[in-house]
Amino acid sequence: MEIGIDQITFATTPFYITMDDLADARQVDPNKYKIGIGQERQAVVPPTQDIVTLGAQAASKLSPKSLRNVSTLIVATESGVDNSKASGIYIKRLLGLNDYIRVVETKEACYSATAALQFARGIVALNPSENVLVIAADIARYGLNTPAEVTQGAGAVAMIISQNPRVLTIENTSVAYTKDIMDFWRPLYSMEAYVDGKYSNQVYVDFFLKTYHRYVQLTGRSLADFAALIFHLPYTKMGKKGLDGLLQDDASPVAERLRNNLAAEQKVSRQVGNLYTGSLYLGLISLLQNGDVTPGERIGLFSYGSGAEGEFYSGILQPDYRNQIGDDLLQTLQKRHQLSIGEYEKMFNDQLGMRKEDIIYDIDTDPSEFVLVGQQGNQRIYQEK
Ligand code: HMG
Repeated sequence: MEIGIDQITFATTPFYITMDDLADARQVDPNKYKIGIGQERQAVVPPTQDIVTLGAQAASKLSPKSLRNVSTLIVATESGVDNSKASGIYIKRLLGLNDYIRVVETKEACYSATAALQFARGIVALNPSENVLVIAADIARYGLNTPAEVTQGAGAVAMIISQNPRVLTIENTSVAYTKDIMDFWRPLYSMEAYVDGKYSNQVYVDFFLKTYHRYVQLTGRSLADFAALIFHLPYTKMGKKGLDGLLQDDASPVAERLRNNLAAEQKVSRQVGNLYTGSLYLGLISLLQNGDVTPGERIGLFSYGSGAEGEFYSGILQPDYRNQIGDDLLQTLQKRHQLSIGEYEKMFNDQLGMRKEDIIYDIDTDPSEFVLVGQQGNQRIYQEK
């Protein structure tokens, strides 16, 4: 039985800042952010958005027919809103999904959407008529005026995993690799991540090369068997570091095509920033909307989560993929509202975060379909507008 991604959609916040403005405010050469890091714009999160609203926004773009058939909802996130209750239960209500459903949350930094996808394949293998909804939703938050501020971002990707998938059939061979490493972490008392940035770059490339080479050993495949290799993109330059680590100075047509398709993967991410769990899958949509790929071809995917865990796996592109990947994201993202750095800093500081007190936000300032209205009696209040 063929199992994989049947539909895939993306949502982010309605606000952004430009890296030119951020560089100006932080007195940094803008080329460091735009070329050295490879970002152009960054999604900004208003206090009326969190992973629940972002996840609901992304999933509401899936077809109602696929949603009706969902037996299991898995939300992959490292920006959970409760230490006990799964965020997916709020999302299930906002989407109006059937009560006869299983809902859980997975966590391992940016990697856990890939774990969710692999778990989903198992569920579908045992129950072929069921769909699994995987939502990867996160807010990448490091702090104002920190070296990692330029790599913030936010958004969610929603995927239907089913039999006979119309986007990407997932192949059976995959290589996961895990080691206890402190490259990036966020203690329970902190809203911002702690990071050993340069070290995290090295571990990422090391895990990519280890998992890719083992996959090649197990399958007997080579570079020429891939139309594209796509990467978790904490910032777009990171994908280049990964691919450069493999290709070195290879100037063959196969290598050039992989470089061009990496550029296609990076296009949307440059406009949004890091999505943590969703980044690899936003990269997949960006590749499919902007790259040179043909049905029947193989795409290699490298998923990485700090802490650290990596997985390299592959899928075969399906004939109807163009109709299952949503609207042109580069166009859609043009409709967002640009903020000044002052407005961004205010939104950054206005997040609900760890506050305990009751609060009601002005939801009229947020044009999104799903909003966090506030908190009362230690309960978050969500609403569909
Ligand atoms: P930094 O120290 O400010 O930057 O931090 P830098 O000095 O290393 O410069 C960055 C690049 O810009 C360098 O290029 C410079 O040469 C270049 P590179 O050597 O990397 O190719 N540069 C310029 N280029 C053009 N014109 C200029 C100029 N000036 C400098 N004028 C760092 C950068 C990425 C470390 C920081 O932003 C950070 O800590 N970010 C967060 C950590 C991160 O994203 N790590 C990635 C791997 S770990 C991962 O992917 C997991 C993660 O998503 C979390 C999870 O799993 O949940 C993060």
